[in-house]
Amino acid sequence: MQTIQLHDKHFAPYIDATTIEARIIALAQQIDLDYAQERPLFIGILNGSFLFAADLFRHLKIEAEISFIKLASYKGTSSTCNVITAIGLEEDLSNRHVVIIEDIIDTGKTLHSFMQELKNRSPKSIKIASFLTKPSALQYPIVADYIGFEIPNKFVVGYGLDYDGLGRNIPALYQLSE
Ligand code: XMP
Ligand code: MG
Repeated sequence: MQTIQLHDKHFAPYIDATTIEARIIALAQQIDLDYAQERPLFIGILNGSFLFAADLFRHLKIEAEISFIKLASYKGTSSTCNVITAIGLEEDLSNRHVVIIEDIIDTGKTLHSFMQELKNRSPKSIKIASFLTKPSALQYPIVADYIGFEIPNKFVVGYGLDYDGLGRNIPALYQLSE
C-alpha cells in the first residue's frame, strides 16, 4: 500500500482491508453469541459507519434488524451547549435490544449526547459497536461494547471515514502523515 493524497493532505497506510475484515468477522461472531434469540435492532449512524455497518451486519447469523440515522447538532435555546438529535429514527424502541453502530469514538461527545435521547425511548438495552476508538482522546463517559480497533489520537481516513468528504471509498485505513 502506498501513501495517498486527499485534498491538501497525505495519508499513510495503517490497517489493511484483510485485517479489517478478519476483525469484523470476529466481532460478528461475538454479537451472534451475545444476542442469540434477542432479535436486536442495529442503528447505524451515517455517514461514517455505512461500510462498517454493512460488513458487520452481513456477517451476523442471528435474526436482526438494521436502520440508519443521521445526527444533527443544534444549539440549545437556553445554554451554549449543543444538543444532538437523531434524524430518521422511526422505530419503536421500547422493549428492543439496541446496538448503535458508529465509525469512531473520539471525544465521545456525539454518542454521549445521542445516548440521552435514546434512553428516553425506553429500549430494553443499549450497546455500542464502534469500528474505531481513540482512548486517549476520550472526554465523556462512553464505553463501547464492541470495538474494531483502538487507535492513537491521530486523524484517520478510509473504510467510510472521510477527510472533508473524500476517502470514504478506500477499502483500508490510512493515517494522516506528520
Ligand atoms: P466525538 O468527539 O463526538 O467525535 O466522539 C466523533 C466524530 O468525529 C469524527 N472523527 C473523525 N473522522 N477521522 C475521521 O474521518 C478521524 O480520525 C476522526 N476522529 C473523529 C467522526 O465524524 C466521528 O463520528
Ligand atoms: Mg467525518
